[in-house]
Amino acid sequence: MRDAILITGAAGFIGSALVRRLRRSLPTRPLVSFDALTYAGGLDNLAPFEDDPRHHFVHADVTDANAVRAALERFDPTVVMHLAAESHVDRSIGAPLGVVQTNVQGTATLLDAVRHHWGARRDTRFVMVSTDEVFGQLGATGRFDEGSPLRPRSPYSASKAAADLLAGAWHSTYGLPTLITRCGNNYGPRQHPEKLVPLMITRAIAGEPLPVYGTGENVRDWIHVDDHADALIAVMQRGRPGESYCIGADREQSNLALVERIADLVDEALGRPAGTARACIRFVDDRPGHDQRYAIDSARARVTLDWRPRVDFEAGLSDTVRWYLENSAWCARRRRPADAS
Ligand SMILES: NC(=O)c1ccc[n+]([C@@H]2O[C@H](COP(=O)([O-])OP(=O)(O)OC[C@H]3O[C@@H](n4cnc5c(N)ncnc54)[C@H](O)[C@@H]3O)[C@@H](O)[C@H]2O)c1
Repeated sequence: MRDAILITGAAGFIGSALVRRLRRSLPTRPLVSFDALTYAGGLDNLAPFEDDPRHHFVHADVTDANAVRAALERFDPTVVMHLAAESHVDRSIGAPLGVVQTNVQGTATLLDAVRHHWGARRDTRFVMVSTDEVFGQLGATGRFDEGSPLRPRSPYSASKAAADLLAGAWHSTYGLPTLITRCGNNYGPRQHPEKLVPLMITRAIAGEPLPVYGTGENVRDWIHVDDHADALIAVMQRGRPGESYCIGADREQSNLALVERIADLVDEALGRPAGTARACIRFVDDRPGHDQRYAIDSARARVTLDWRPRVDFEAGLSDTVRWYLENSAWCARRRRPADAS
């Protein structure tokens, strides 16, 4: 197959947004979605591509070297975008070893299979999709940039940092054209309801308590998933192998301020009296090792990749609330058995 792009984790939140944006910007390019369909992934996220002759789905695990090799041989991609991961910090705290298996062993398996498949070819790209969480936490001031040291503090962020180091090592040792992206917190449609924004939206819709860790003062830097996906495409097309790129939209927000805004948007959308959902906010025991603040300086990506975020935060958040209101069947399919009663 000529010039295919293989996307791991394509049935998840960011992966499926990336497939949609790739199809829009590169309509004729063959796309291969590679995903193990864990609890976090769903074929419904890729439903628009079911009849697309240039889209192929491979149901397989990145830790399965034979399956990875078979996909590379069958589709011969020139680009690999690696998003498959166990992505939830709380789950990584509860069960860290599975996270290490997928995020570290899975990345090593993929890198090595790709290295053998591409050999000396250099018209290729391996984009390692990582997170700003590898930098650890900030105090009240400062921002992460490409020179910030890796100081991960959770099993999730440590596993992502390990994967980034592997991608860097495969570049310097074997010449594999790897590029690393590190993005802030994403929001948008199709994010699993266990994550902060959709958790608050779905609970506010149901009139349930809205649990906020600690005092809610932890700060995150938010970006719409489509802006992140466009940045990944820019890195794929214009990034320099061996480089890393920080991606952010300059939208810092405390968790409490975010939850209050979501509560208000849900009340407005449902025509409920102002303050109804805010009254459901409950402060709960803090997450162990909860990072205080993240903030990203994305100047390198903006200047060298001709990329910038386009989605206005207020408009994006309000569209996201509407999406969850209109897609209750999608949410119901992701409800954990324990939540079902
Ligand atoms: N969500 C964010 O805010 C954010 C921010 C920065 C970076 N990232 C990174 O972006 C990537 C995607 O994140 P997301 O939020 O879309 O995650 P997600 O949990 O929504 O999706 C992960 C996808 O990976 C698949 N997957 C899991 N284990 C797999 C395995 N062993 N083999 C093949 N597929 C497997 C799942 O089925 C799912 O479709 C991750 O690497 C994450 O670290 C996420």
